[in-house]
Amino acid sequence: KRIVVLISGTGSNMLAIQEACKQGRVAGQVVAVIANKASAKGLEKAAAQGIDTEVLSHQAFDSREAYDAELKVLIDSYQPDLVVLAGFMRILTGDLTRHFEGRMLNIHPSLLPKYKGVNTHQRALDAGDKEHGVSVHFVTEELDGGPVILQAKVPVFDGDTADDLQARVHEQEHRIYPLVVNWFCQGRLALQGGRAVLDGQVL
Ligand code: GRF
Repeated sequence: KRIVVLISGTGSNMLAIQEACKQGRVAGQVVAVIANKASAKGLEKAAAQGIDTEVLSHQAFDSREAYDAELKVLIDSYQPDLVVLAGFMRILTGDLTRHFEGRMLNIHPSLLPKYKGVNTHQRALDAGDKEHGVSVHFVTEELDGGPVILQAKVPVFDGDTADDLQARVHEQEHRIYPLVVNWFCQGRLALQGGRAVLDGQVL
């Protein structure tokens, strides 16, 4: 299966998926990595893997609609079976999410439906949560609101900072994202009637 990964930052999840592809743990290949800024560190990591990289700067567009229309064309030019959002810090238009419905995944650093949006680690600390975690979900029009496929939990310890939590969550991200991507590539995972279905079972 052909996978396109969208990033804005470090790209450690992108790299975890790429490594899993190379090792045969994901039945697919990352055919392109697209970033919305040239400074995204993950671009060099992708290039070092021999993956095609693209930068489509949102600053060159007047509106979200105009940017997403171009992004859609760029993604489609790689004819992906699956589009993976891995730290892509953009709110997507309904036009884009509908176009890729059922074939776009996101990873969000909270135990959804808790803490949609940004600053999730600090918000979990402020709330005094004893556990925190990460969710992989299908992308729908609602921000961080699509059906959850898999979550991993981490403990919150006394004295933890947001950075501590982020590091703990990141480890889990690198474990569960390749797993879910592989399920999709194997044809075991689908979005059906607005729900995530794995091996015929509603999740
Ligand atoms: C991750 O924490 C992910 O959950 C969030 O953005 C971050 C991306 O990290 N959506 P990286 O660029 O993959 O290292």
